Amino acid sequence: MNDKKLMETAVKAREYSYSPYSNFRVGAALLCADGSVYTGCNMENAAYTPGICAERTAVYKAVSEGKRDFLAIAIAGGPAGILELTAPCGVCRQVMREFCDPDSFRIILGTGEEDLRSYLLKELLPLSFGPENLGRTTAEKEDETP
Ligand code: THU
Repeated sequence: MNDKKLMETAVKAREYSYSPYSNFRVGAALLCADGSVYTGCNMENAAYTPGICAERTAVYKAVSEGKRDFLAIAIAGGPAGILELTAPCGVCRQVMREFCDPDSFRIILGTGEEDLRSYLLKELLPLSFGPENLGRTTAEKEDETP
């Protein structure tokens, strides 16, 4: 799975975006270390706060199915009918930080499959707070991997 294919998958996932309030449609595709890919779209709500971003949908789907080892995520977003460079919100960056290695996890942005750019999580979330700050080591996390 290369970056272009992962972005293609994010663009497809965007078709399911439920965003009647903002009309900003987002799809995400999360690549796991075992090669599997989990997709997500944003889902809004009439009560506003229950809404969720595409990126977190993808991460939560994967974790809830036993995956915790992630390599990269591609994000495709923009107003209906348009793809524009869409970077993950701060909450989604923090959720990635829980499960992903900031030094190697890649966040792939672009306007669809064009103009792909890859950032490391540590670049988009510098000086971050993570599981290690609460005394949890990577080894401990691995022990708990289902
Ligand atoms: N959104 C995402 O799904 N991901 C992003 O990276 C940015 C924002 C969603 C949340 C909301 O449904 C809409 O886009 C407008 O903020």
